[in-house]
Amino acid sequence: MTKTLFITGASSGIGAATAKAAAEAGWNVALFARSTDKLEKLAGEIGDAALVLGGDVTKLDDVEAAVSKTVEKFGGLDAAFANAGLGLDTPGTVEGDPDEWRTMIDVNIMGLLYTARAAIPHLKTTKGHLVMTGSAAGRRHIPGSIYGATKWFVHGYAGNMAEEMKEWGGRVTVVAPGMVDTAFFSEPKPDKLQPEDVAGAVMHALQADPRCAVREVFLMPQN
Ligand SMILES: NC(=O)c1ccc[n+]([C@@H]2O[C@H](COP(=O)([O-])OP(=O)(O)OC[C@H]3O[C@@H](n4cnc5c(N)ncnc54)[C@H](OP(=O)(O)O)[C@@H]3O)[C@@H](O)[C@H]2O)c1
Repeated sequence: MTKTLFITGASSGIGAATAKAAAEAGWNVALFARSTDKLEKLAGEIGDAALVLGGDVTKLDDVEAAVSKTVEKFGGLDAAFANAGLGLDTPGTVEGDPDEWRTMIDVNIMGLLYTARAAIPHLKTTKGHLVMTGSAAGRRHIPGSIYGATKWFVHGYAGNMAEEMKEWGGRVTVVAPGMVDTAFFSEPKPDKLQPEDVAGAVMHALQADPRCAVREVFLMPQN
């Protein structure tokens, strides 16, 4: 039976590339983000296997409604990719803007938790898979990085959820890229990782034999 993947942050970068890779591998893909115009365009490229779900990951109701619609449309949920995330324009604890921190923490931490909360009851019925986008910045210390600290949360939570979910046959993967050439940065980064590289890592984890839990994939640009 065709498997179904719910993706947050599917309108751009890593999420959009993963949607394409999963659809190419024969999965149904549920595309969640705020920019429905971009989601519609992506869904147009993918075809019937794609479902557009506009919403804000910082709103639990939006995420729960989107996951319900995914299950209604495709008959179940095999995997969820908690990928939506953002950085800060102004770094630094003294120089930075606390309102900007709150927005980022809402997306990178609360949005990730909401995605897990909405998906897990459905993943339990399929012995499904939860994938989260961490970062190289969530594996090593970067001077003063508040963004990096949100990704340390992702790595810690992913490991804790891997221990919890294995009790019912569920798997958890944190994918941890270094710099990727996406809209996350205002300037193009052509010599760094491409979003397709990260999508390939996600698909490797999702397609691994059920005996093999790919707990973490760490990718760095070679240059
Ligand atoms: N690029 C890198 O170098 C890099 C490295 C390591 C980790 N990461 C992580 O990779 C993930 C994806 O980032 P990316 O590089 O692919 O950047 P991107 O192209 O800017 O994509 C970010 C995605 O997050 C979504 N998003 C942001 N706020 C949202 C909200 N409130 N509700 C729903 N969706 C929201 C955006 O969609 P809308 O704006 O349409 O809502 C967009 O689809 C993030 O978690 C990021 O921290 C990136």
